[in-house]
Order: sequence, then C-alpha cells, then structure tokens
Amino acid sequence: MLRPTKQFGTSSTRRSFLRSGLAAPAVIGASMAASSISTAAFAEDDGPTVGDISILRFLAAVEILETDLWEQYNEFGGIRDQEEPSGSGNKPYIDLLAQIDGDMSQYIHDNTEDEFTHFNFINEYLKSKGAKPVNLERFRTLHGSIAQGSSGKKRLTNLMNLTVDASWWGRYRSRNANPDLGDTNFANPVPGLLKGQFPAIPRTNDDTTDPKHLLAIVNTAAFHFGTIEQFGSSLYPSLAQRVSNVEVLRILLSIGPTETMHFQVWHDKVGNITKVTDPFNGLTFPDMATFQGNEDLQANLIMPEPTHFLSRSLPVCSIIRPTATRGAAAAAVRAFTDDGLFIGQPVEFFTELHELAAHADAAQRRQ
Ligand SMILES: [Fe+2]
Ligand SMILES: [Fe+2]
Repeated sequence: MLRPTKQFGTSSTRRSFLRSGLAAPAVIGASMAASSISTAAFAEDDGPTVGDISILRFLAAVEILETDLWEQYNEFGGIRDQEEPSGSGNKPYIDLLAQIDGDMSQYIHDNTEDEFTHFNFINEYLKSKGAKPVNLERFRTLHGSIAQGSSGKKRLTNLMNLTVDASWWGRYRSRNANPDLGDTNFANPVPGLLKGQFPAIPRTNDDTTDPKHLLAIVNTAAFHFGTIEQFGSSLYPSLAQRVSNVEVLRILLSIGPTETMHFQVWHDKVGNITKVTDPFNGLTFPDMATFQGNEDLQANLIMPEPTHFLSRSLPVCSIIRPTATRGAAAAAVRAFTDDGLFIGQPVEFFTELHELAAHADAAQRRQ
C-alpha cells in the first residue's frame, strides 16, 4: 500500500545537520592507526569496550557503503524528495520496477533513508563516546552511471558489474541445511547471476532502449536488494554476540532487525519478477510461477523455513542464518567484494575495510 511521504517540519534543517557530520575535517583521512581509540577511555565497566567501538566502527563503514549503493538505486528508481534529493529518476526503469510492485519506488526510498540514518547514528554515537567516527569520503572516486536519472556524483560502490548471489533464496527455504553447520549448495533461482557481471542500474541511456535488456537489469536489482539486506540481517546478530556494553548491544539489536524488515520486503517482491532472457548477455530469469510446489524454490515461501540450529540433535527452528560470530566482519567484506560492489576501488580502500573488519573480529565479549 502506498503511504504518504513522511514530512518533517524541519526536514532540510535536520538533513543539513546530518550531512554536516560527514564533512567534519577531523575525521577525513584518519588512518586506522590514528583512529584507534585509547583503551583507557573505554575500560570502565559501564561504558563501551574497545571491542564495542571496533564493532561499531565496522558497522558504520558497512552502513556508509550501503547508503551509497541505495542512493544510486534511489536516484534511478526511488523517490526524490527532501529526505533523498539526489538524482532525477529514470522513467523506463521506474515503470518496470512498478510492474513488480507499485510501491517499489517508495520502498527503495525508505531503504535508502534508513541506511543513511544507520551510519549517521552510529557515527554520532561514536563521537558522543569520544571515539572517532568513520569516514570513507576519500574513496568516493568511482565514476557511476551516466544514464538519465543519475546525479553524476562520484560513488563508493559499483552497481554496474555485479555478480549477485541469490542462494539466500534456497538457504531460507531449506529445512535441513544451515551454513553455520557447514552446509553449502543452496537452491539458487537465478544461477546465471553468479556466472558473470551484470548491471543493476542503467549504465547509459543505451541500456534503456531494449525492453528485455532493461527488464533483466531491473530483475538483477530486485534480487540484489534482497542479497544486500540479508547480509545485514546476518551481520548484526553475528557481531552482537561479541558486544560487551548493554547500550551498544541495544544499538545492534535495534538496527539489525530493520535490515531483516528490508530483506523480508525484497524477498517478497522479487517473487513477482517477469521472466526474461537478456538479448545481449543471455542472462535468464525464470518464470517464478514454475517453482510452485517445489519447497526449495517456491516464490511465496518467504518466511524462514525452520532449520537445524546450533546442533542437529536439537529440534529445527525458524531463524536468521548464518549468525556464527567468528570472523563475521571479514566474511561480510568478502561477500560484498564477491558481489562486485567494490570494483574499481584502490588497494587502500580494501586495506582500510579489512583493517576495520579485523578490529571488529578481534573484539571479545567482556566476561
Ligand atoms: Fe543498514
Ligand atoms: Fe540494509
């Protein structure tokens, strides 16, 4: 159902305040070494630990990257307003999104705004505790799309050559398998998405001239929405297990489920895609109705099937998966990298991201 765009009486004021946090000179170009916080400042029992701060800093980085990719989707397919003013929309792309669901543009807009609030809140919280916020602006160097709708600004993430892993589809439908118990090979409704690099937004106006090609681009985006948000759904509970301070735990427990709310919406919507084969690259999307009756693939089985959790000797349980905490941050970086999101970024970008992840994965829960 369409709902009216949220109105804030102080929207522009609020936004400029929020954006100003991005440009704080103190955080630009901070090296990882310089950004480490002093142990003494966070050693009190009632405050965040060094590990808590490391986890929050990694999450801030992830949320910055999510914001950047969602902003691109909003420029082409979402709604431009006071909350998300960037870009001007791409009508052919929006029209095909609307065939999936008439509210797709609204959902894209709201997901975009949510990501912005996630990283902005975490960064401001870090500052309020005397820790350095995360700033990746020096890596905003990627040339994005030049198609109608793009703001033309430089990007942190790439959406024009993606290798989308849609195996979360089968992972959430499997009653017998859980990646945390070592299981692999989940049913993938569009295996072709893993066999190349495909655009999820129009790269130039040429991408909008052939209807089948553009439909494949829109379908790629529709699966990518779910792929991104299921990463977040796993990441927060995975990292929460090593948080010590209750307030920091509350932050993770309050943001994480919103990622799952996003995921659930995209999981539902992508079941409505139209089958197509891209005439230029052969990427094929199936008729989702043909999966009816196949428990591993049926489109409307969007609620997690119960599966093995912790031990195969315990009863099956409906859960988010994976949620193993060991190496969770590094795994998230790997998954985003494999997705193609960082194609074009320099070595320094990966060094920074890997270091943030390593600090987060070194965090230990205070006993
Ligand atoms: Fe987020
Ligand atoms: Fe998200």
